[in-house]
Amino acid sequence: MKALKHKILEEGNVLSESVLKVDSFLNHQIDPVLMQQIGQEFAQRFKDAGITKVLTLESSGIAPSVMTALELGVKTVFARKRKSLTLIDGLYSAEVYSFTKKESNEISVSEQYISKEDNVLVIDDFLANGQAALGLTDIVEQSGATLVGIGIVIEKGFQTGRALLEERGIRVESLAIIDSLADGKVTFKEEL
Ligand code: G4P
Ligand code: NA
Ligand code: NA
Repeated sequence: MKALKHKILEEGNVLSESVLKVDSFLNHQIDPVLMQQIGQEFAQRFKDAGITKVLTLESSGIAPSVMTALELGVKTVFARKRKSLTLIDGLYSAEVYSFTKKESNEISVSEQYISKEDNVLVIDDFLANGQAALGLTDIVEQSGATLVGIGIVIEKGFQTGRALLEERGIRVESLAIIDSLADGKVTFKEEL
């Protein structure tokens, strides 16, 4: 997606060989015009999939999910990150380990908001090692709903996330795929 790649080149900060900071439009401040275009692009890519719900993880997944859901005419649900859920009923939950942050989060979604009749599109801001996406996939499985695919705003193609998802047969659509962050420079994967 051209506008997104442009924005990444203009405003992204390469913090290291593996981390890109995009606080000015995605992770802290949000650019609503770009976010609307992101929603339109996801909706376009998944328009024939019969999606009934968009699922994401708080907090940075919410903006692109809302715009996508608006475009598709459905609702969006965000999984919450909480510490202990052992005594709470009526939740789907999954453990998500972050290799980046070296911490584990239990994420959860109320059973009220996803049911087995749903066709779910999962959206997230970043795909790195795929652990958040797998946790959301786990929640979709628990609900008995159908997972239609996963939409990612920025994929770090040099990390393992995509392979983990594709080996489970999951369709992954990323709007910008980064091949390398070497030498303080963003290099995108060539599009076919
Ligand atoms: P994974 O889910 O793909 O395995 O990713 P990982 O554990 O590495 O990611 C942990 C958090 O860091 C996630 O945000 C993820 O979006 C974010 N992240 C991973 N790589 C990058 C990067 O290169 N740049 C930026 N800006 N973020 C990255 P989170 O903890 O869920 O936070 P939130 O922003 O959604 O609140
Ligand atoms: Na994030
Ligand atoms: Na995220």
